[in-house]
Amino acid sequence: MAIDGNTKIFGVIGNPIEHSLSPNMHNANLESLGLNYVYLPFHVYEDNIEYLIDGAKALNIQGLNVTIPHKINVIKYLDEIDPLAEKIGAVNTINFEYKSDKTIAKGYNTDVLGAMRALKEKTDIKDKDVLVLGAGGASRAICYGLTEENVNSITILNRNLERALDLAGDITSSTEYTVNFDDFENIDTHLRDTDIIINTTPVGMYPNIYDKPLIYAQQMNPNMVVFDIVYTPLETGLLKEAKKIGATRVSGLKMFVYQGAESFKIWTGKDADIKAMEKSVMKESGIHSLKDF
Ligand SMILES: NC(=O)c1ccc[n+]([C@@H]2O[C@H](COP(=O)([O-])OP(=O)(O)OC[C@H]3O[C@@H](n4cnc5c(N)ncnc54)[C@H](OP(=O)(O)O)[C@@H]3O)[C@@H](O)[C@H]2O)c1
Repeated sequence: MAIDGNTKIFGVIGNPIEHSLSPNMHNANLESLGLNYVYLPFHVYEDNIEYLIDGAKALNIQGLNVTIPHKINVIKYLDEIDPLAEKIGAVNTINFEYKSDKTIAKGYNTDVLGAMRALKEKTDIKDKDVLVLGAGGASRAICYGLTEENVNSITILNRNLERALDLAGDITSSTEYTVNFDDFENIDTHLRDTDIIINTTPVGMYPNIYDKPLIYAQQMNPNMVVFDIVYTPLETGLLKEAKKIGATRVSGLKMFVYQGAESFKIWTGKDADIKAMEKSVMKESGIHSLKDF
């Protein structure tokens, strides 16, 4: 669709932003739905984050995605925040709504919605024992998401034990769950009672695709579900191990597409064309098929 005086603007802010797949993915969706909107990359440096929200309001931008390193720092400049995003302490979507003569910027976290949708597409989560690898920003979002899904237990394993303790402590004090934590040395003990493994570390992510996976096939069993949120490459070392044992696999690409679709729904109230978004990400990543994922 050609840009004209009626074109509405969405975008993504980050630093760096050049490698983001969000502009291609969102514009593929907008084009497929025939909407007069455009989605742009905005390279926002840390020092400028304080001007971001007022600047976006002044330019009448309709919605923004937020990526590294602004997901936490942007919160203090928002007018409102969704309760789940507030609990998580990170925002990846901002909606600008014109209300009573002023524009309100409200923050959401759709990473969590994207992750839960990708997982639930492949398995029931309720009453399951979940082992989460990593205790960074994505782990925080996913662990809070799991507390809303009636899982049986959540265990966090992290290299830096103090960080795992902090995250487990935050969730335990703000939800009904008592979250367990440990370091990787004791992984086999935890794997005995695990139904779902979720990798939230960047281990195996491009360009380090030959990193040793955190768990090998011999440590898994065929009834497990293995979800790797890394999506470059599509089939990470961990997912290759899961295939060897015949476990169910969930790809980070699905999470990425679904978080984008959830953002689009918040901004427009419309359902995204998931297939168009998937196709665009696959093309950019050189992936030919999502069979098995
Ligand atoms: N699919 C999606 O839509 C999606 C969305 C968000 C993020 N992601 C991906 O998720 C990954 C994590 O993102 P994030 O924002 O959570 O990063 P982050 O906040 O930096 O956290 C990274 C976590 O991984 C751990 N880690 C890093 N390198 C490790 C290694 N070599 N061995 C073991 N643990 C290691 C860190 O442990 P320490 O605490 O010990 O340092 C930390 O717990 C990235 O690859 C990102 O691209 C995907």
